[in-house]
Amino acid sequence: MKYVNWGSTDKKVPAIALGCMRMSGIAFEEAVQIVEKALEQEVTFFDHADIYGGGACETVFGKVMREIGCDREKLFIQSKCGIVPGVMYDFSKEHILEAVDGSLKRLGVDYLDALLLHRPDTLMEPEEVAEAFDELERRGKVRYFGVSNQTPMQMELMKKCVRQPLCADQVQFGLAHAGMIRSGFEANMMTDGAVDRDGGILDYCRLHDMTVQAWSPFQYGMFEGVFFKSEAYARLNKKLDEIAAAYGVTNTTIAVAWILRHPANIQVLAGTMNPSRLEEICQAAQLRLTKEEWYALYRAAGNILP
Ligand SMILES: NC(=O)c1ccc[n+]([C@@H]2O[C@H](COP(=O)([O-])OP(=O)(O)OC[C@H]3O[C@@H](n4cnc5c(N)ncnc54)[C@H](OP(=O)(O)O)[C@@H]3O)[C@@H](O)[C@H]2O)c1
Repeated sequence: MKYVNWGSTDKKVPAIALGCMRMSGIAFEEAVQIVEKALEQEVTFFDHADIYGGGACETVFGKVMREIGCDREKLFIQSKCGIVPGVMYDFSKEHILEAVDGSLKRLGVDYLDALLLHRPDTLMEPEEVAEAFDELERRGKVRYFGVSNQTPMQMELMKKCVRQPLCADQVQFGLAHAGMIRSGFEANMMTDGAVDRDGGILDYCRLHDMTVQAWSPFQYGMFEGVFFKSEAYARLNKKLDEIAAAYGVTNTTIAVAWILRHPANIQVLAGTMNPSRLEEICQAAQLRLTKEEWYALYRAAGNILP
């Protein structure tokens, strides 16, 4: 396993984490198998959210931990809160505290290693978030804090009051969703790719020693499907197959290696519930693409170098 820095702390975390968003959609025995496979591959970092499966993903994971007899201290369990599905985003102190209690109960644990705020709430009062974080830390319910889908300015606003370092920003990133780097390549051009949709998240995280967590690494659009075998990504798939054959691995491994090759301290959140696919994903930790291969994949995904 390759390890990346956990924010600005001296802690290291595995560069591949298991995203548990799809865990309520499989049988309990399959959930046991995917967690066992993860641990075998040194994937000890698990990403949750209070809303995944309406809470069921955390419940299943909690049961799996007890079934396997996991040593809690060896796991890094992260959850997220702040979304009230279909209703609003809510960063109020009351909501954050209640959400964490709910996650702890469903998971059957005393503390979360990390809590991320899921999607920015424009009605947020940074003072309230700070109070919530302080209370969670003081009560030993959460060890580290972070955000998800937030721009640099949103993080700066939060940091006006929040004392704890923001360790991570969890954002969509992958070969078919590379806007965060495309706008940098096309800076100041009149091209579509030059549009900065994120305010410079990647550079901000590098400057502030934050871990970037790449969600949905294989999806294109907003959950439109995986780019593997997609006609819309024929050139990318051809290039992936070509490089995969040269290394004797699968296209999945190469797609993950592409993300890990970036020096921005990126952690891949793999959403697979298939143990053999997780093994292919983990093989990427042993592989370092050349710069030429990295750029060839970037261009094959439909991006330009002006
Ligand atoms: N912060 C946020 O807003 C946010 C949003 C979404 C997700 N997340 C996090 O990111 C994690 C990963 O998200 P994700 O599950 O969308 O990521 P993903 O790894 O891109 O997608 C996983 C899905 O794609 C399927 N898949 C993968 N490779 C495939 C292939 N070659 N052919 C066919 N199907 C394939 C998987 O099926 P198999 O199970 O069969 O492999 C699974 O259903 C989530 O679990 C969650 O923790 C965060």
